[in-house]
Amino acid sequence: MGALFDELRHGYPLPLDASRGCPGSATGREVDRIMGETGLEGYRAFGGGCMREDFERRMYEAVESARQLLGPVSREIPPVGIVLGSGLGEFVDRVDGVIVPYSEIKGFPVPTVVGHRGLLKVGRQAAILAGRFHAYEGRSMDEIVLPVFLLAQLGITHLVVTNAAGAVNTAYNPGDLTLVKDHINLTGRNPLIGPHIESLGPRFPDMSEAYDRDLRLSVKEAWHRPLKEGVYAALLGPTYETPAEIRMLRKMGADMVGMSTVPEVIAARYLGLKVLGISCITNMAAGILDQPLSHEEVVETGRRVASEFADLLHCFLETFHQASGNP
Ligand code: HPA
Repeated sequence: MGALFDELRHGYPLPLDASRGCPGSATGREVDRIMGETGLEGYRAFGGGCMREDFERRMYEAVESARQLLGPVSREIPPVGIVLGSGLGEFVDRVDGVIVPYSEIKGFPVPTVVGHRGLLKVGRQAAILAGRFHAYEGRSMDEIVLPVFLLAQLGITHLVVTNAAGAVNTAYNPGDLTLVKDHINLTGRNPLIGPHIESLGPRFPDMSEAYDRDLRLSVKEAWHRPLKEGVYAALLGPTYETPAEIRMLRKMGADMVGMSTVPEVIAARYLGLKVLGISCITNMAAGILDQPLSHEEVVETGRRVASEFADLLHCFLETFHQASGNP
């Protein structure tokens, strides 16, 4: 009750969506009681009110449903999971595997953003999530991280997160593929806010090496082309940044900027997964060039580098499986 009360009192942006609220649950009743005592009306409307017990139930339902849909494959889950970012979904067609549409997985959200297919594909080398969810769509943090929890429960140990990003660092160019070495979370949100599910991970996960150093090294060694490493700043979107915001991000130490990835990485680290982050630089961030930003440019660059991006993912998978002695 203490932690819950603190959250309500301080008005943190809470992670769950009201429509999926669980007013009948013990926690829901607790929330109602505290709201009554504190006068914190609007709490549910801003996304509070349905806490971890609901997420946990929904997550285990999704896991059970995915296991059934995958059949025998669910007993042969590869160690690597991959989240494909905006416009990078093509990779999913390059690998063999069993496909399960998100829409068939019980309790799973379905993507609304163009370029996000909404399917899980489990092959020999990787379990791929083609379709992610973003806070700018109005998705709750729980919806955004549910797919990562699912893969972790199915048995992956490593997660590759990919995204399209704008270059804050002026030495970067559109079309560059970069490794993420760290992030700055400027979304004001965190998927772990709420009562703690102790069985799954620590209350205060360490983020000092959120993006695994050894994974980055092995990719850089195996990939015989230039590969920059940078810091990814995550903002909520959906507006692109202002030039002043980009100057601020540069001063903060960011090299690239985007609207995704960070919630999934936080969830992955909580769950003990090792993470590799790959950004595809689709554009120079606002104010660097004397031209407005456009979504078309982002999509077009993504399309242009799709094949190189897929090669990089293959290169990582080959190296990973060789190193771990898998066929
Ligand atoms: N800003 C934020 N997100 C992005 C950008 C950008 O410039 N490019 C691709 N995703």
